[in-house]
Amino acid sequence: MDALQTKIECYIKKNLTQKRLEHTYSVCDMAILLNKSNNLNISEKSIIYSSYLHDASRYYKLEEMKSILDKNNIAYKSHYNEGLLHAKVSMIIAKNDFCIEDADIINAILYHTTGRAEMSMLEKIIYASDYLEPLRKLDKADEIREIAIKDFNKALLLTIIESISFVLSQKQYLDTDSILMYNHNMGYSQN
Ligand SMILES: [Fe+2]
Ligand SMILES: [Fe+2]
Repeated sequence: MDALQTKIECYIKKNLTQKRLEHTYSVCDMAILLNKSNNLNISEKSIIYSSYLHDASRYYKLEEMKSILDKNNIAYKSHYNEGLLHAKVSMIIAKNDFCIEDADIINAILYHTTGRAEMSMLEKIIYASDYLEPLRKLDKADEIREIAIKDFNKALLLTIIESISFVLSQKQYLDTDSILMYNHNMGYSQN
């Protein structure tokens, strides 16, 4: 374990609940497993840093998040809730508190909730693992996880569909980036 990983672990142990910490480690394990089983050749360090930090600000208060975003000149829509803002704030924590400058890691944290059209493989694997990690027990996750071991792109499309369907079923705000992500990935064969 390197010094940066130790420092990040110290931070998340202080700032996350036990349940969220277990989810964080589970996202990391899931992403490493999918990386290996699909021969994706993503750097394991990048997976560890992105997954450990993706929910770093999950328990910050809404006003605190807005003030951090304002200070760092990061735009957000006024109706955004904690669910959408924590990805942006966690990205700022990665940059400011841990001096992470790698654009791929920064984007994996920033887009882990909404996704976006042209995601890198690191972004895709963090997005999918956040949904598929076994502790979350979401609808169809077991079934999609099985597929993901062998055919990651097929599982990614199924994950996007499940995730967007959930947002719609709850009548929540659907971010434009999520629609663009769906349109970009919908061509993948489901056979
Ligand atoms: Fe999150
Ligand atoms: Fe998460």
